[in-house]
Order: sequence, then structure tokens, then C-alpha cells
Amino acid sequence: MLVFGFILLLSSCIQCYTDDVTVIINWNNILYTSKSTLTYQLVINPLVTRASPVHDNIYQSLHDLPADYIRFIPWFPYPRLGIAELEQPSGLSQCKNVGEKYNLILSCAVSGGVIDKIEFASFGTPMGTCGNYAYGKCNSNTTIDVLQKSCVNRPNCTIPVNTDVFGDPCPDTVKRLIAQVTCNPPQNNTYWDLTSIDPLMEDFFEATKDHVSVINFSTQPRWLYNLTNVNPVQYPDSVNEVDWDYLQGSELLDKTGQQIGDYYGRLVAWYTKGGFLDEYGREHKSPYNYNISMWEVLNEIDGEHWNGIEQYTLIYDSMVEGIQKYADQEKKIKFVGLALGGHGRYDYYRYFLNSSNHRPGIPLDWISYHFYAGSSSRTDPATYEQFFPQTDNFVEEVKEIEKIRLSLSPSTRTYIDEIGIILPNDNDPDAPPFPKIYWNAAAAAFAYSYCKLAPLGIDLLGSSQFVGYPKLDIMGGLSPQYPSVAILDWNTGLGTARYWVLALLLNHFQVGDQAVETSVEPSSPIYAQAFINTKQKMLKLLLINTKYTSANVTINKAKGCTAWILDKSSNSAPAKQMKLLSDTILMTEYAVVVIDQMITTDQTKN
Ligand SMILES: *[C@@H]1O[C@H](CO)[C@@H](O)[C@H](O)[C@H]1NC(C)=O
Ligand SMILES: *[C@@H]1O[C@H](CO)[C@@H](O)[C@H](O)[C@H]1NC(C)=O
Ligand SMILES: *[C@@H]1O[C@H](CO)[C@@H](O)[C@H](O)[C@H]1NC(C)=O
Ligand SMILES: *[C@@H]1O[C@H](CO)[C@@H](O)[C@H](O)[C@H]1NC(C)=O
Ligand SMILES: *[C@@H]1O[C@H](CO)[C@@H](O)[C@H](O)[C@H]1NC(C)=O
Ligand SMILES: *[C@@H]1O[C@H](CO)[C@@H](O)[C@H](O)[C@H]1NC(C)=O
Ligand SMILES: *[C@@H]1O[C@H](CO)[C@@H](O)[C@H](O)[C@H]1NC(C)=O
Ligand SMILES: *[C@@H]1O[C@H](CO)[C@@H](O)[C@H](O)[C@H]1NC(C)=O
Repeated sequence: MLVFGFILLLSSCIQCYTDDVTVIINWNNILYTSKSTLTYQLVINPLVTRASPVHDNIYQSLHDLPADYIRFIPWFPYPRLGIAELEQPSGLSQCKNVGEKYNLILSCAVSGGVIDKIEFASFGTPMGTCGNYAYGKCNSNTTIDVLQKSCVNRPNCTIPVNTDVFGDPCPDTVKRLIAQVTCNPPQNNTYWDLTSIDPLMEDFFEATKDHVSVINFSTQPRWLYNLTNVNPVQYPDSVNEVDWDYLQGSELLDKTGQQIGDYYGRLVAWYTKGGFLDEYGREHKSPYNYNISMWEVLNEIDGEHWNGIEQYTLIYDSMVEGIQKYADQEKKIKFVGLALGGHGRYDYYRYFLNSSNHRPGIPLDWISYHFYAGSSSRTDPATYEQFFPQTDNFVEEVKEIEKIRLSLSPSTRTYIDEIGIILPNDNDPDAPPFPKIYWNAAAAAFAYSYCKLAPLGIDLLGSSQFVGYPKLDIMGGLSPQYPSVAILDWNTGLGTARYWVLALLLNHFQVGDQAVETSVEPSSPIYAQAFINTKQKMLKLLLINTKYTSANVTINKAKGCTAWILDKSSNSAPAKQMKLLSDTILMTEYAVVVIDQMITTDQTKN
């Protein structure tokens, strides 16, 4: 039994100022043994591409914060950074839809032939889908001539799309070029193109090698859905331009799910099996044999193409089957399902976790869901105190979900894979910047959620998200991408307090830690939890200031122990290490502190 000095002499606190806090630890009363692993996620956006001025620092920061189960997520606002086949396979017709200032590229390289017939061509405001195009109100009547001259009877052609080439049939209107051609000899056409995605996967795998990662191409090509009544707006030509409207349609075209399963199967095979055979049996070779051990099935399904939990479950089963067929005959990949963004929908969990609602043999390895706290003001640091009670409410929801999981599918594990804060008006380009203390408040809130969720036995807790930013004037101008959810500083690619709190927690707390009874005065601003870290043979105390106020915190016999302090003075640097000169430590607003001491044989004797 552990009997540590600084434990037993607690009752006599010497300086009892009313706003002082005394931490009382009973090392003999073990509350639970931690099963929780901490991690985080890299969500794809332009700032993490190789064209970014902070690219190298971002991947260095990723490399320097080693964790298992880091999630890699190409996400829908950047269709060209996340979708491997943006257009539906189109048989013998080749279709292209190109905005002004970009190039039309047509090619008959697959059949080794030449461009033959122009079935449709219009620069202006054409409409419709491949095979069913129609002229719009505006059309340059030279379009067909231009294509005839530059493309027909050639193996390929590249034409800049602009009014110099096609004339201007309607000044002040946004125009596009749509072309539909055939080849001679004929060729079937697909639109697989991973050239923007490959470098992201390469950089991610390089930075996280030797660790298990979780890959989640969360965005589905929207052509998998029935778009009849939605009239989808064309997505941007630029990889950097944000498109919040990409998600369209809710009803799958192929209601058996096979089409979506095949898409994901091929995508996984590209990265794990050196390539795949496409929809027409043609081989696409890649240089990749990555080891993908976990695959998440889609994202915030309740907000993206939502068509009920039954359809999601069908998609999940189809994706698992597709991926196993193309890329994982050995069935080694573990799957993560649900990824719910909304709250309180226990019926979804009850449906998904009931194996009789799945096809035979479909694994239910993991489920995941998200939690974002908020505050009533973007700029008033006192309102950041709201993060903590909101976390408490979320914990109650997790308890309900856990009851369902344990009753229906106890071997399914849980990944709460996006824990973060979203401040008001976060994606408003004109939103005022938030004060620096926000980073500390958000760091404290993450540490707090660790303390609150670990007792429930949650397997994985992931901080959201590595890179975000406000409106930036670099890279041709970037629209805001949830700056308050960022872990790194977007100007430098280096860590904020949200990064350093993860580093601090990852260094000090592990699976197997024993949490012991720890108490402070009720209504104190400080949350405290002590752990026995048996692996490191250390006693650890985690202190979190949940308020926008400072407090002196007293722990008996803490004098001489080492403290790591992450607060407003550490700013964007790691936690400051210092030896405590007394039993009292000053914790400033939203500070996070770890105090530790070796377990000596003397102390472990009863
Ligand atoms: C093309 O359009 C222009 C302007 O609308 C018109 O003057 C011209 O006659 C048209 N040419 C043909 C070949 O239709
Ligand atoms: C386009 O065709 C030319 C021959 O006209 C060939 O040299 C070139 O490699 C082709 N380019 C592509 C991208 O297929
Ligand atoms: C195109 O694909 C269809 C199957 O979808 C196949 O029957 C046909 O032979 C293919 N044609 C060519 C030229 O590859
Ligand atoms: C792939 O990753 C898993 C999980 O980390 C590991 O057990 C396995 O050995 C790895 N396989 C290869 C070929 O590296
Ligand atoms: C697509 O939706 C339209 C309108 O709801 C419907 O008429 C059509 O049958 C649907 N197509 C498929 C393939 O389900
Ligand atoms: C896949 O990534 C999305 C995007 O962040 C996320 O919301 C979702 O939870 C992930 N999927 C799963 C099953 O966790
Ligand atoms: C599981 O689902 C089946 C079929 O939908 C249903 O009959 C059964 O009652 C469900 N089981 C539980 C425990 O909810
Ligand atoms: C903490 O203690 C120091 C030294 O006793 C004192 O000067 C300071 O005012 C105290 N701060 C708070 C917030 O209680």
C-alpha cells in the first residue's frame, strides 16, 4: 500500500486565506485504473499542403508530438484535397467542367487513340451532368470551333479557359466551359486523380511512422447520391478555395451500397496494395504500401448526406465489405463507425450497436463521436469558464452512451475523436481575434475533459484539430477554417498552449495509471486529480484552474517536487519546469500544472 508523506498531514493548513485552495490526496483510495489514450487529429486544409509557408513546421510539430491513433482527415470543404474520383465514371464519353483561368485538358491516352467527336461544348452557363448537358442562357458560339481546331484528331489537348480564347458572350457573368468528347478507338473514362492527396498522405505517414494512425477519408464523392432535386453548384477548380456546399443529396443512387463500397475499397487499395483496377477493369498503379490499421467510416453523418441511421449502417457495412474485398482480404483493418456530431440521439447508438442490424460478419470494432464546447463571447475570457460545466454535461451523455454500448456490444471500443472548443462566429472572416488567454482556457478544458472521461473507461480521447486559421492573406487568400479549434499557431506552424497541454498530458499520464481520491474545497476554482503512475514509478498530481482568476494552491509536502506549469506566461512554449520552493503554488487564470515525485521504497512501504 502506498503511503506517501504529502498525503497524510493535510488537516493543518497554515495559511488559510479564504481564496486559498488546499488539495487533499488519499493515495490509499484508488478510484479507477486509466484505460484512456490521448491523441489528436490532422484535418486537411490548404495550410497543411506543400505550398503552405508553414508546411515544414507543421509536420515537424506533428512528428514531435508522438501519439498513437492520430487521425488523418481529408474533409469536404476542400473537395480536391479529399476526393479521389471527383466525377462519375462516364463510359465512352469524356466530360470536363472547367472554370475561368483554369485549363481544359482532354486526353485519349487510355485507348492510345485520338479525340474524335465533340458531343457537347459550351463556354458560358451550361447546365446538367455528363451525358445530359444543355446550353444555358449564355453560350459562346465559338466553343465548338475552338475545340474542333485544337483537339480533334489529336491524342490530347490543353486549352486555357478564358474570354481571349472563347470571346465573352455575357460580361459580368461567371462562366465555365463544359466539354463532352469521345475517342477513336473508343475508351471508357474514369476520373481517378490522387495527385493532390498523395503528398498529404506521404507527409502524414512520414511524420507519424511507427505509430498506429486512423485514416478517414470522410468525404464521399457526391455523385454517389441522387442529385435530381438538388441542382448542385459546381465545386471550385482551386485546391485552396473553400466550398461549404459540396455535400449534396442524401439518397444513395446505388441502394445496395456496392458502389460506395467499391469507391472506398479502391481508395484504400491505392494506399495499401500498390493500386487497383478501376470501374472498367483498367489498372491504376501507386507506389504505396502503407500499413493502415484503422479506418473510420465517414464523418458527422448526422450532418452530411444524412438519410437516417439505417442508410448509414448500410453504408458502413458496404464500405467494410468493399475495403476488405479490394484491400484487406486478411481482415486486419479495424473499423470505426458512427462519428456523430450531434447530441442526444441515443436511438442511433442503439441501432448501430445492435449486430442484428448489420450484415453477417461485419465487425463493430469502434464507435466514435464528438464534443465541442463554446462560450457566449468570443473575446471575453471570463466566459471561457463556460467550457467546464459544458464538459460536465457532455460527460452525462457519455455515461448514457456507455450504458447502451455495454448492453449491446461490450467489445466495441470508443473513440471520442474530436474534443475541442468552437468560439462564436469562428468562420466569419470579420470576427475579432480572440485573446491569447483563450489558448490556456482551451488547454485547461482539454485537460479537464481527460480527467472527466478517463473514469468512464473511454479508450481514446482526441483533441481537435491540428491546423486551423482565421482569414489569411497567404496562398492567394484563405477563408477562415475554425481558428479556435487549432492546436498550432497558424502564423508559425508551432504549438500553442493546446499543443503543449497535449504534450504535457502525453508525457505524464498513461494507460494503467491509478487515479486516487483527490479533493479540494467545493467551489474552488481548481480541479485536482492525483495518479499513481506505476510505469514511471511516479506520483503525479494534475491541477487545472477552471476560472478566470488566480489562486494559491497548497499541497502538503509538495516542497521540493518538480512542477510543470502551463499558463499565460508560458504562452506558446512548453510547460515551464521548476522545483517547488514551498508547498504552495500560484495558479494563474486557466493554468494547468503537473506536480510529480518519484515513488521511493520508503514511501511505498506501508
Ligand atoms: C455568334 O454569336 C455572335 C454574337 O452573339 C453573333 O454575332 C454571331 O453571328 C454568331 N455566330 C454564329 C456562327 O452563330
Ligand atoms: C499529348 O500528345 C502529345 C502528342 O501530340 C504527346 O507528346 C504528349 O505526351 C501528350 N501529353 C499527354 C499529357 O498525354
Ligand atoms: C467499356 O466498358 C464496358 C463495360 O462497362 C465494356 O462492355 C466495354 O467493352 C468497354 N469498352 C471499351 C472500349 O473499353
Ligand atoms: C501494421 O501496424 C500494426 C499495428 O500497429 C502492426 O501490428 C503491424 O505489425 C504492422 N504491419 C506492418 C507490415 O508493418
Ligand atoms: C432520384 O430522385 C428522383 C426524384 O426524387 C427520382 O425520381 C429518381 O427515381 C431517383 N433516381 C434513382 C436512381 O433513385
Ligand atoms: C471522420 O472524420 C470526420 C471529419 O472530422 C469526423 O467528424 C468523423 O468523426 C470521422 N469518422 C469517424 C467514424 O470517426
Ligand atoms: C436488435 O435488433 C433486432 C432487429 O432489428 C431487434 O429485434 C432486437 O430487439 C434488437 N435488440 C435489442 C437489444 O434492442
Ligand atoms: C498568493 O500568495 C502570495 C504570497 O502569499 C500573495 O502575495 C498573493 O496575493 C496570493 N495570490 C492569490 C491570488 O491569492
